[in-house]
Amino acid sequence: MTSTTGAIEVAATVDVETDTGAALQITGVTKAFGDFLAVDHLTLTVPSGSFFALLGPSGCGKTTTLRMVAGLEQPTTGTIAIGGRDVTGTRAHQRPVNTVFQSYALFPHLTVGENVAFGLRRTGKSEIARRVAEGLDLVELGHLAGRKPVQLSGGQQQRVALARALVNRPSVLLLDEPLGALDLKLRRQMQLELKRIQTEVGLTFIHVTHDQEEAMTMADTVAVMNHGRIEQMGTPAELYELPRTAFVANFLGQSNLVPGTVSERVTSTGLLAVDVVGRRLLVPEARSVRSSGDVLVGVRPEKLRMLVGDQEPSSGENVLGPGTVTDVSFTGVSTQYQVEVAGLGTFGVFAQNLLGGSTVAPGSRVRLAWSMDFTFALDGADAPDEGTVDLDDEP
Ligand SMILES: Nc1ncnc2c1ncn2[C@@H]1O[C@H](COP(=O)(O)OP(=O)(O)O)[C@@H](O)[C@H]1O
Ligand SMILES: [Mg+2]
Repeated sequence: MTSTTGAIEVAATVDVETDTGAALQITGVTKAFGDFLAVDHLTLTVPSGSFFALLGPSGCGKTTTLRMVAGLEQPTTGTIAIGGRDVTGTRAHQRPVNTVFQSYALFPHLTVGENVAFGLRRTGKSEIARRVAEGLDLVELGHLAGRKPVQLSGGQQQRVALARALVNRPSVLLLDEPLGALDLKLRRQMQLELKRIQTEVGLTFIHVTHDQEEAMTMADTVAVMNHGRIEQMGTPAELYELPRTAFVANFLGQSNLVPGTVSERVTSTGLLAVDVVGRRLLVPEARSVRSSGDVLVGVRPEKLRMLVGDQEPSSGENVLGPGTVTDVSFTGVSTQYQVEVAGLGTFGVFAQNLLGGSTVAPGSRVRLAWSMDFTFALDGADAPDEGTVDLDDEP
């Protein structure tokens, strides 16, 4: 906790006021609209002071979840507790939460300072001035307190909205796609800024987004949501390195997924042998969601390397192919290759630019090799393309 937050006093008129975050607990929460389940038996715990992201495609139930936490929507079943207190029946304005939306909803006729003051609950005049100044300092806009919203950039307006939401020190701050209206570069800057502010104030942030990169860069914990349910929850690295469903494997980054059948459990080594079009691939059993039957074997594109000519794989590597390089896209930092393997489809391979450009030409015949340690296996009943980004859906 910094001196900025430590200096804030608790106003006597405010019933719930904290200067640290509180844990949020959602237990068995369902929200039905008619016979449609927008949120389907959601259970999750967000520890106090953490930066938590709810990530999922449009329509998966993120906003509905936030609205139930805020008290703007009543769950059909289940309970919501903040700081250990059941708030399921508590009115919105009596909950220790505040929300920042994608639309900043600033009052155009008020100055920046007045907009922030509007967020304050009743308190004395000098207290208002002090806390508005503190709020604006936090978002580094103290010098613009006299301006009107129209005189600010989009990013600055969103920071004012953030200051306004923070002046009452909610225990939990809800952010519903707050950066959605900003252009890419500004969005990246604001992600770092939001992360800094969260660290500084130590409140619990629940950040809703459909942007996987945004969730990964900002959050301590990411919950991946699909059709009203949490598919998987963990740190960004856990989700990326060990996805447990095809949806997570494809929605969070890219994955190469190929169908196979477990042929053997090599108990002494903790490995599963999987038959993929007559080839034997090895997967650590702990990295497979099942130890028999049909699976989807997966590996991330940057874990693959291409073997050219008579180049041999290392021990401990899985090998597929040969295949043909059908596309080479040089992006500067890396080259992205597409390799077509007969009977299996197209593999993506990302190669870091270590040698000054792309090294394998289109049309080349290559084999694909990767460490078995990076291999994962999913339920064979998952659709291999579930969660792949449909370009038409990109906002
Ligand atoms: N008031 C409502 N009445 C009926 N359906 C709703 C209502 N609010 C949301 N929905 C539906 O619930 C689903 C989830 O919506 P929402 O929570 O807004 O998704 P997200 O924020 O993830 O895009 C959507 O299919 C949406 O159409
Ligand atoms: Mg939404």
